[in-house]
Amino acid sequence: MEGFHALIFLIILLYVISTAKYATLGIEPAASDRAALLSFKSLVDDDPFGALSSWNNGSLHYCRWHGVSCSRRHPHRVTALDLKSLRLAGFVSPAVAKLTFLRRIDLSDNMLDGSIPEDLGSLRRLQYLNLSENSLRGMIPSSLGNCSNLQVLNLRDNKLDGEIPPTLSRLSGLRKLILSQNMLQGTIPDSIGNLSSLLILSLDNNNLSGAMPSSFGSLLSLQILEIQYTSLTGTIPSTLTNLSSLNLLLLRENNLHGEIPHFAELPFLSYLDCTSNNLSGTIPISLGRLSSLEYLSLGMNNLTGEIPSSLYNLSSLNTFQLYYNQLEGTLPSDIGNALPNLQVLVMTKNQLRGRIPASLSNASELNYLELESNAFHGTIPPSLGALQSLSWLTLALNRLEARKLSEWSFITALTNCTSLQVLDLRYNLLQGMMPKSIVNFSTSLNFLLLSNNQISGIIPTEIEKLINLTFLDMSVNDLRGTIPIEISHLWQLQYLDLSDNMLSGEILPTLGNLTLMDKLYLGSNEFEGAIPPTLSKMLMLELLNLSNNRLSGSIPQEVLRLSSLASFLDLSHNLLNGSLPLEVGNLINIRALDLSNNRLSGEIPDTIGKCTILEILHLENNLFQGSIPSSISNLRGLKKLDLSKNFYSGQIPAFLDELPDLKYLNLSFNSFEGQVPMKGVFKNASEVSLIGNSKLCGGNPELHLPKCTSDAFAAKHHSDYKLKVILIPVGGAILCLIIIMGLLGMGSPQII
Ligand SMILES: *[C@@H]1O[C@H](CO)[C@@H](O)[C@H](O)[C@H]1NC(C)=O
Ligand SMILES: *[C@@H]1O[C@H](CO)[C@@H](O)[C@H](O)[C@H]1NC(C)=O
Ligand SMILES: *[C@@H]1O[C@H](CO)[C@@H](O)[C@H](O)[C@H]1NC(C)=O
Ligand SMILES: *[C@@H]1O[C@H](CO)[C@@H](O)[C@H](O)[C@H]1NC(C)=O
Ligand SMILES: *[C@@H]1O[C@H](CO)[C@@H](O)[C@H](O)[C@H]1NC(C)=O
Ligand SMILES: *[C@@H]1O[C@H](CO)[C@@H](O)[C@H](O)[C@H]1NC(C)=O
Ligand SMILES: *[C@@H]1O[C@H](CO)[C@@H](O)[C@H](O)[C@H]1NC(C)=O
Ligand SMILES: *[C@@H]1O[C@H](CO)[C@@H](O)[C@H](O)[C@H]1NC(C)=O
Ligand SMILES: *[C@@H]1O[C@H](CO)[C@@H](O)[C@H](O)[C@H]1NC(C)=O
Ligand SMILES: *[C@@H]1O[C@H](CO)[C@@H](O)[C@H](O)[C@H]1NC(C)=O
Ligand SMILES: *[C@@H]1O[C@H](CO)[C@@H](O)[C@H](O)[C@H]1NC(C)=O
Ligand SMILES: *[C@@H]1O[C@H](CO)[C@@H](O)[C@H](O)[C@H]1NC(C)=O
Repeated sequence: MEGFHALIFLIILLYVISTAKYATLGIEPAASDRAALLSFKSLVDDDPFGALSSWNNGSLHYCRWHGVSCSRRHPHRVTALDLKSLRLAGFVSPAVAKLTFLRRIDLSDNMLDGSIPEDLGSLRRLQYLNLSENSLRGMIPSSLGNCSNLQVLNLRDNKLDGEIPPTLSRLSGLRKLILSQNMLQGTIPDSIGNLSSLLILSLDNNNLSGAMPSSFGSLLSLQILEIQYTSLTGTIPSTLTNLSSLNLLLLRENNLHGEIPHFAELPFLSYLDCTSNNLSGTIPISLGRLSSLEYLSLGMNNLTGEIPSSLYNLSSLNTFQLYYNQLEGTLPSDIGNALPNLQVLVMTKNQLRGRIPASLSNASELNYLELESNAFHGTIPPSLGALQSLSWLTLALNRLEARKLSEWSFITALTNCTSLQVLDLRYNLLQGMMPKSIVNFSTSLNFLLLSNNQISGIIPTEIEKLINLTFLDMSVNDLRGTIPIEISHLWQLQYLDLSDNMLSGEILPTLGNLTLMDKLYLGSNEFEGAIPPTLSKMLMLELLNLSNNRLSGSIPQEVLRLSSLASFLDLSHNLLNGSLPLEVGNLINIRALDLSNNRLSGEIPDTIGKCTILEILHLENNLFQGSIPSSISNLRGLKKLDLSKNFYSGQIPAFLDELPDLKYLNLSFNSFEGQVPMKGVFKNASEVSLIGNSKLCGGNPELHLPKCTSDAFAAKHHSDYKLKVILIPVGGAILCLIIIMGLLGMGSPQII
């Protein structure tokens, strides 16, 4: 019995002690949890949704405040703050650290700024800290390494700087470490390899430098490793290739160099992206062991050698990108059977040769095929027409051929691809008549690029069926005939290049109906007649090139009203006559204006001075006369001025030597006279041409002009003092002369 009583007593005692403990935990810290929460609220200075309006001294218990959760066992202790996406602005109060039972803090996707309070390091129970998508500044407090229960640390998308604190490597239970999109600097601490529970490591978009620590090889649980868009250097540590749980390995846009390491079999790796580094050497055969790989991009590196055939064992591959390397060899003829899930194949800018495999049609989901800038030859396989999803086909800059009609059959086949948006066949060896069936391409076609081939024939009138065309380039071919009026119905056209063909007839006035047009090139053809004033309806036109035709008549003032013209206006090498309309002054955005080699006459209008962006002005080989207008001095950006082979006269204006960027000045074969300026562009004889102006003198001795003999001209340029000394008496004398002649009733000042 004694023992039994003793036991009861002990139980009661334990109960009293434990309730007393509860009492201290439940009442005393409760007050401080409330105070801590109110302190948190006090630093939130904007709460547009009123999320914290329940947080006040009223009757509602703070455990029921919005976003607050409390412990079940310790009913007054706050265990979670869930306040994401509430547009809260202000600072994070250090008082949060007084909520010592906190296991979870989610303040993500708000507008908090200030720094992360150092005191958070005292939250020993904290498991989840998500402060992503705010504007937090300063360094990551190294004290966070004390939160020994932390499993998730997400600080993505803030403005944190400084280095990654090595103390984080003490967080042995950490599963997700996400520090991407900040301004973190320095190297990745070697000790990070201690985070043996890590599943996700994301350090994208920071200013990290140095090499990737080889200790990464100890992160044996790692599933996602993302270090993209940083400044990491060094090689890819070979230890990475052993991370057998890895699913995604993303190293895009760093400065990694050296070879791609040999991979062990990583049964889960599905995504490998090393685009835009400086990796060299050959592609390791061992990549063929990554049997789950779906995405492989090694583009924009310095890889050489052939594509290892083992890669064609990766039958799950849907994206295969090796663009911008120096890869050689051929694509296997059965590639489409080997990689049946391929959706994206991009091999642009390598040295691949051989034929385009017809079997690609067996990769039935292929929608993006880019083989531009290689050395592929042979014909384009018509089988590509079976690719129902094909939307992007660029084969430009190869040696692809079509000689016989049958070799053009791919065009008809491609009309089956109802999703086709881009077809680029520029710079190949396609010869012969343009197949009529191009007009049967899918109406989804946006880009049709056939330039720099040897395509002959006419532009079919039914081209109007391609109503979605925005970009049409048929330049540098052998097209003849006229531009069909139906082109004017392609109202979405923004870019039309038909230059360098043998097209003739008039430039259609209805082209002006293409009001979205941005760039129009019709140069180097045999167009004749006048420039239609209706082109002025193209209010977005940035560039117009009608050069090297046989256009006649005057330059329509309407066209010069197109202040949208910002790149260049080239009407050179035609038969245009008349004067340059005053409206040229509306070209306030133009960079280059070329009216050379026409029969334009009269003076350059003063309004030219309003084209203040002008860098290049070609007026050579016309019939212009008069003097160089002083308004040219407003063209402060002028780099190149050619007025040669005209009938300009008068002095070379001194302001030309003050144009800071002028590096080419050709005034030859005119009738300029007098002293040549010495400064600016005139200092360098190689930048100036003045030949064929018999009355010029002085200037840079390298110009080999005669010395100036006329004192008046010479003096004018030498010194203002001399100028005055001479001019005042001379002027006085002339004035006297005029007065005397006036008095004598003689005719007036022509004498001067
Ligand atoms: C809440 O009440 C306490 C005690 O009554 C007081 O000290 C504190 O200033 C109050 N806080 C607010 C925000 O009203
Ligand atoms: C953190 O918050 C962001 C934004 O609310 C959310 O998208 C993300 O899933 C959270 N991250 C983690 C690791 O829980
Ligand atoms: C917490 O971390 C800081 C910085 O790493 C350290 O100086 C401090 O001693 C730690 N505090 C405790 C209580 O462990
Ligand atoms: C942590 O990493 C460092 C450097 O890699 C190492 O020296 C240390 O032994 C590791 N500590 C633990 C506990 O693994
Ligand atoms: C990145 O760091 C380098 C030096 O490590 C520094 O020169 C550069 O300005 C930094 N860039 C940014 C965007 O912070
Ligand atoms: C990868 O693991 C294998 C065996 O698991 C080991 O022999 C090899 O040394 C490891 N390689 C690296 C680079 O760590
Ligand atoms: C790329 O690496 C090579 C050596 O492999 C080096 O010569 C070159 O300068 C590097 N290029 C860049 C852009 O870093
Ligand atoms: C490619 O590698 C060669 C030889 O190592 C090097 O000279 C070259 O600069 C590299 N190219 C680039 C773009 O880094
Ligand atoms: C492709 O895989 C098969 C079997 O999985 C293997 O026998 C063959 O050697 C592999 N081919 C290459 C080129 O690696
Ligand atoms: C294109 O479609 C036509 C009719 O539907 C069919 O006869 C032809 O075989 C198809 N061409 C290709 C390359 O699939
Ligand atoms: C025209 O192109 C746009 C954008 O590419 C697309 O959304 C639209 O469906 C196309 N129209 C037709 C008739 O294909
Ligand atoms: C051009 O537009 C005018 C007026 O909007 C219209 O009358 C004419 O039919 C159009 N011409 C063509 C070829 O689209």
